[in-house]
Amino acid sequence: MNLQELAAHVAAEFQKHYGRPPRWIVAAPGRVNVIGEHTDYNDGFVLPMAIERYAIMAADSSSAASAISIYDTNFKETATIDISAPVTKGQPKWSNYIRGVLAGFQNRGVKIPALDVAFLSTVPLGGGLSSSAALEVCTATLVEAATGKQIDPVEKALLAQKAEHDFAGVPCGIMDQFISALGREGHLLLLDCRTRKTELVPMSDPSVALLVINTNVKHELSGGEYAERRAQCEEAARNLGVKSLRDVTAEQLEQGKGKMSEVVYRRARHVIGEIERTTHAAEGVRASNWPTVGVLMYASHAALRDDYEVSCKELDVVVEIAESIGLKGGVYGCRMTGGGFGGCCVALVKTDSVEAITKKIATDYKARTGIDATIFSSHPAAGATIIKG
Ligand code: GLA
Repeated sequence: MNLQELAAHVAAEFQKHYGRPPRWIVAAPGRVNVIGEHTDYNDGFVLPMAIERYAIMAADSSSAASAISIYDTNFKETATIDISAPVTKGQPKWSNYIRGVLAGFQNRGVKIPALDVAFLSTVPLGGGLSSSAALEVCTATLVEAATGKQIDPVEKALLAQKAEHDFAGVPCGIMDQFISALGREGHLLLLDCRTRKTELVPMSDPSVALLVINTNVKHELSGGEYAERRAQCEEAARNLGVKSLRDVTAEQLEQGKGKMSEVVYRRARHVIGEIERTTHAAEGVRASNWPTVGVLMYASHAALRDDYEVSCKELDVVVEIAESIGLKGGVYGCRMTGGGFGGCCVALVKTDSVEAITKKIATDYKARTGIDATIFSSHPAAGATIIKG
């Protein structure tokens, strides 16, 4: 279903559930990160794109004096959030992403109106495609629609990130919420996470496509590994006497190698290399130099696997299959994407070969892991939008 069809679907669900049509419909996309992994919280660069998978909400004002009801059309479950007081954490668990955003608006002095909401997400859960950021940014967009007051998209992304920190307990960087709020159709987003300066990099060459390969092995970022990696990066920066790893060159790291443990050194080596790879990849995309972008993607995966140690067997298997297909079979490059420990790979491929590559990866992955992969291609999609209202 495309976005318009999804909007019609969620509007129908709203009508069925609440007995009247919705007044507002809003959506925010998930994302795939082409390159620049675990660099955002190191003040580095990232190069994600929004994908044609969305969190969508249809809503209307509610007669309930001080509550928001959200009916999840996937799981047929309703969350009720009291807005008469500062919004706090609560049940069900998924409502915390929404609660965090509502609390963020309250902190900015915004009076949240009572609402009835129907919600639908086509971003796979736990797939590393930022289903949570999509939900957060979608909620923020709904508040904008319902209050008639838009906030700066950068502010919106930061508000959503804070929701993830405070209400979901994940000390994430800024990439996911930024791309969900600021993505543009047909473009990747090169984001400097230090200055928060963004550059839209056109990706409209019809001869290439991006494939998202979901290993269907769930990733769970609140497991502590993410926070541990973040702490190790901070330790490396401290030992090198700089604010963040963005300030360190590969040579400086080599000179300072003795100041840290071997593990912390390897973590830093990934980050410093990845920041460089990301700016080079952006140059490659600008020049439609796909073989170069592909090589950088493979190098990114190797560093995430060996130095940063956030890959897993299934992600490695996908990359190995992609490498075995090779340029001859239409694959330029492939890597794990997102936080890691499961979730998805992203592959840069020739459009002509999409079908054959999809078939080969699905077959070989099943043979080697016993698991069915889910594979789809996506054009770079637009960021959060108010579809109706
Ligand atoms: C998760 C986080 C992001 C980023 C990636 C790794 O998706 O939410 O902020 O750190 O992991 O690149």
